[in-house]
Amino acid sequence: MTESSHDLDFNEESADAVDYGATTPLTTERLTLRLLDTTDGIPLQAVLGDPDVMKFSDDGPLDNAKIDGWLKQQKQQYETSGHPVMAVTDRESGEVIGYCGLFDCVIDEVSEVEVGFRFSSANWGKGYATEAAAVMLDYAHRNLGLNRVVAMIDPGNEGSQRVAEKLGMAYEKDFMMPGYSYPDRLYVSKRSAS
Ligand SMILES: CC(C)(COP(=O)(O)OP(=O)(O)OC[C@H]1O[C@@H](n2cnc3c(N)ncnc32)[C@H](O)[C@@H]1OP(=O)(O)O)[C@@H](O)C(=O)NCCC(=O)NCCS
Repeated sequence: MTESSHDLDFNEESADAVDYGATTPLTTERLTLRLLDTTDGIPLQAVLGDPDVMKFSDDGPLDNAKIDGWLKQQKQQYETSGHPVMAVTDRESGEVIGYCGLFDCVIDEVSEVEVGFRFSSANWGKGYATEAAAVMLDYAHRNLGLNRVVAMIDPGNEGSQRVAEKLGMAYEKDFMMPGYSYPDRLYVSKRSAS
């Protein structure tokens, strides 16, 4: 956890509305992915509140109020579209080490579903992003019946591009996000649900 994360004073009460019920957790060899709950704002400070983790985010690191807003946004999206964003926990320790999920987005005026993930820096380089995103992509294609899932990646984010490649995602095109000064790279996972 970063120094700034220790200084944060997350208000658990304000996240009460974030409890969005049970959906079967996804499990891998080392990880459990489960829906976010009211307690996740605190461990996610080491993810969403860390400038290194948020280096490629337009918004930069989030303070506690913004983390709370982020959690509520994910709850709202899940209630609206059924696309989950999940806490990624270490199966042995139960520790929340990051998140991985499906995000509704619009790219070049087309509605898309993006697989997104971030991990605390102490947990980089262990294959966790690939392991978590692989099970999330399977869930998206098989259980939700999505034929197409994308990943939007900053061209400087070589680690994330490598994860996309390891997941079997194919580079499709460069595209401009509104307000950006340079294009992101779009990777795509295509699979029929059957
Ligand atoms: C990007 C991120 C999710 C990767 O997580 P991770 O658990 O370390 O990923 P994995 O271990 O599954 O795989 C990373 C791969 O990228 C490679 N990699 C990492 N950093 C790299 C870099 N700077 N240049 C080239 N390759 C790099 C690793 O060697 C590994 O490939 P390998 O297995 O062939 O050796 C993690 O670093 C992170 O949370 N970063 C900040 C948030 C972020 O960028 N999220 C994605 C937004 S699109």
